[in-house]
Amino acid sequence: MVPRILSILLAIGTAIGEPLHAPKCRYIPGDKGWPSTKEWSQLNNTVGGRLIATVPVAHVCHTGGVFSGYNEASCADLKVAIQEEGAATLQPQPGEPMNPYFYNLTCNPFTPVDQPCELGTRAVYSINVSGAADVQAGLKFARQNNVRLVIKNTGLDYLGKSTGKGSLSFWVHNLKTLETNKKFSSSYYKGPAVKVGAGIIAGEVYEYVNAKGYRIVGPECGLCGFAGGYTQGVGHSQLTSAYGLAADQVLEWEVVTPTGQYLIATPEKHQDLYWALAGGGPGTYGVVLSVTVKAYPDGPVAGGTLVFNNTNSDAYWEAVGLWYKMGPSMVQDSPKNVQFFVSNATLWVFAFVMPDQDTSAIDNILAPFLPELKKRSLPYELKTYNYTSYLENLRNSYGALPYGELCPVYPVLGSRLIPRRVVLDDTANKKLMDVYRKYTADEFGWFVGCSFIDTAEGSSVRPKHPDNSVNPYWRDSIAYCNPNNPWHWDDPAHSIRDKNQLSGEFFPAMEAATPGTGVYLNEIDSLYTGDWKDTMYGVHYEKLLKIKHKYDPYDLMYGHFAVGADEFYLDAQERLCKVKY
Ligand SMILES: Cc1cc2nc3c(=O)[nH]c(=O)nc-3n(C[C@H](O)[C@H](O)[C@H](O)COP(=O)(O)OP(=O)(O)OC[C@H]3O[C@@H](n4cnc5c(N)ncnc54)[C@H](O)[C@@H]3O)c2cc1C
Ligand SMILES: *[C@@H]1O[C@H](CO)[C@@H](O)[C@H](O)[C@H]1NC(C)=O
Ligand SMILES: *[C@@H]1O[C@H](CO)[C@@H](O)[C@H](O)[C@H]1NC(C)=O
Ligand SMILES: *[C@@H]1O[C@H](CO)[C@@H](O)[C@H](O)[C@H]1NC(C)=O
Ligand SMILES: *[C@@H]1O[C@H](CO)[C@@H](O)[C@H](O)[C@H]1NC(C)=O
Ligand SMILES: *[C@@H]1O[C@H](CO)[C@@H](O)[C@H](O)[C@H]1NC(C)=O
Ligand SMILES: *[C@@H]1O[C@H](CO)[C@@H](O)[C@H](O)[C@H]1NC(C)=O
Repeated sequence: MVPRILSILLAIGTAIGEPLHAPKCRYIPGDKGWPSTKEWSQLNNTVGGRLIATVPVAHVCHTGGVFSGYNEASCADLKVAIQEEGAATLQPQPGEPMNPYFYNLTCNPFTPVDQPCELGTRAVYSINVSGAADVQAGLKFARQNNVRLVIKNTGLDYLGKSTGKGSLSFWVHNLKTLETNKKFSSSYYKGPAVKVGAGIIAGEVYEYVNAKGYRIVGPECGLCGFAGGYTQGVGHSQLTSAYGLAADQVLEWEVVTPTGQYLIATPEKHQDLYWALAGGGPGTYGVVLSVTVKAYPDGPVAGGTLVFNNTNSDAYWEAVGLWYKMGPSMVQDSPKNVQFFVSNATLWVFAFVMPDQDTSAIDNILAPFLPELKKRSLPYELKTYNYTSYLENLRNSYGALPYGELCPVYPVLGSRLIPRRVVLDDTANKKLMDVYRKYTADEFGWFVGCSFIDTAEGSSVRPKHPDNSVNPYWRDSIAYCNPNNPWHWDDPAHSIRDKNQLSGEFFPAMEAATPGTGVYLNEIDSLYTGDWKDTMYGVHYEKLLKIKHKYDPYDLMYGHFAVGADEFYLDAQERLCKVKY
């Protein structure tokens, strides 16, 4: 309906000689304005034959639809692969998002064979990006032909920002360059640095820098991207207390802006773009080709695990509350990081990360806590190790790289920052524990993954960093905590219920128990109902929006909950439309 009225209005506009402006909504296949095969083929020529038409991986599981390609054996293999090694199976596929919610029931191996395989919200075409010229060609094409753009690196995004109905995708996966500069020198940093191509994942960069004798701030999960969503979206790390957040590490961005300008943004040149890219959310200000970050000399790291179980619910939850209360003393003004899961059954510290220390550092931080477990007759098991490098500790806690084994690929998940004042105050602490206790109950089955970190400004431990757009709520947090539930392949309705419970009840309860802080903008459910501009971007939102408008005057960049997102909406057929135009 809307598009028809629009095209009439446009026709009238043209007839009376008014300037023709872009339609309100981006075209999707089937729309009259959708580019012809010939136009796509011209784009393909411009990008040297690097244009790929998306064919859903699960087409081998379906007999209906344009993409049908049923093959019993391939489909059986795919089912196993997607559940057991989802990252290895889907990450390297152009146009394929990782999170099943975003292709939903349109073509997946677990829906009935005779259900047609359709693209759904997958990109229609991807450019296999090899450099700036490919991106410039795609930007120009999208603008001239009114086509929606997305960027896919790993496709992990929880908000579906790396996929979109009717879109042309910049697939940056093959930008696999890594380069060390032992003597990076600028007014804002002198020392070792590493330049990481946009397609590199954490596991790859860790192995690379380890071989050179360095460690860097990067994701815990090997399968997570590096230069894309992760660093642009703030990025937490096991080394955050030691060196700062991922965005704090950035020395240079190599980027193509939405108007097609290729540039290097630094704290001195194109400073506003540098600032926005470092923490202001991915996929909004430009297409990053590489990021250069600080590197640090590697050395020993003490690690280990601690487990205690719920053998007496009241005693257990009291102990969990005490554990949180001691969080600040464990990490504040120190390079230490402690990562753990809390469920109704168990508190499992799966990684202590004590850079440049030995296991006595773990014994020391636990000295006030372990007697509290004994006092409550809660048996525990503690194991500690002296590792020779950061990588050795990471591998022992998260599993073999590059992908790692600990991180579930498609959980239903949120992430709340936890302020120091909440865990330290007995009443507030108890309120938070009551929320945990309710939603981790067996009937709901949530567990909460949490990390104690310190990111306060002005610390004597962490190096200084250039000014960036990291939401200041991070700086007075002592932890970020992720409610988690696995994806139910055999019963997607169950996962939809989990998403609704998370966004409708559990997460709002966590927010109410932790007032005056924010969320991790990368790790939030797509149905999130909170005050996203504040919780994700805080005081920086308006400034970020100005920078977005400056660099993206044609409104080519959009992402759910990205800066400027509310200037767009999706219509009933999921066309991306502008609110004002
Ligand atoms: C299994 C899993 C493990 C995770 N582990 C961690 C972790 O250990 N630590 C952590 O902090 N976070 C982690 N995250 C969250 C993660 O940081 C986000 O999902 C992030 O969006 C991933 O970015 P990506 O580039 O890999 O993914 P994509 O989905 O490909 O992209 C995410 C966003 O970044 C944009 N983008 C991608 N590449 C570029 C580029 N080159 N230029 C501009 N924009 C770009 C996209 O447009 C999109 O908006 C994890 C997520 C999952 C699902
Ligand atoms: C683009 O061109 C290459 C090389 O000719 C071809 O292999 C590929 O199929 C083309 N892509 C599309 C979408 O037509
Ligand atoms: C996925 O399917 C469920 C169940 O049909 C529906 O409620 C949900 O809105 C769908 N999600 C998307 C992103 O289309
Ligand atoms: C993408 O390009 C790379 C070279 O940059 C090439 O090795 C790879 O095969 C291409 N992938 C696809 C799916 O076309
Ligand atoms: C905790 O429970 C698990 C599972 O029942 C058990 O294997 C483990 O030994 C228990 N650990 C402690 C410290 O009691
Ligand atoms: C780690 O090394 C320190 C210093 O050498 C030593 O005291 C400690 O016992 C070692 N820890 C373990 C678990 O081996
Ligand atoms: C939590 O775990 C305890 C110990 O296993 C169990 O007895 C209890 O029923 C569980 N509580 C809820 C609310 O599920």
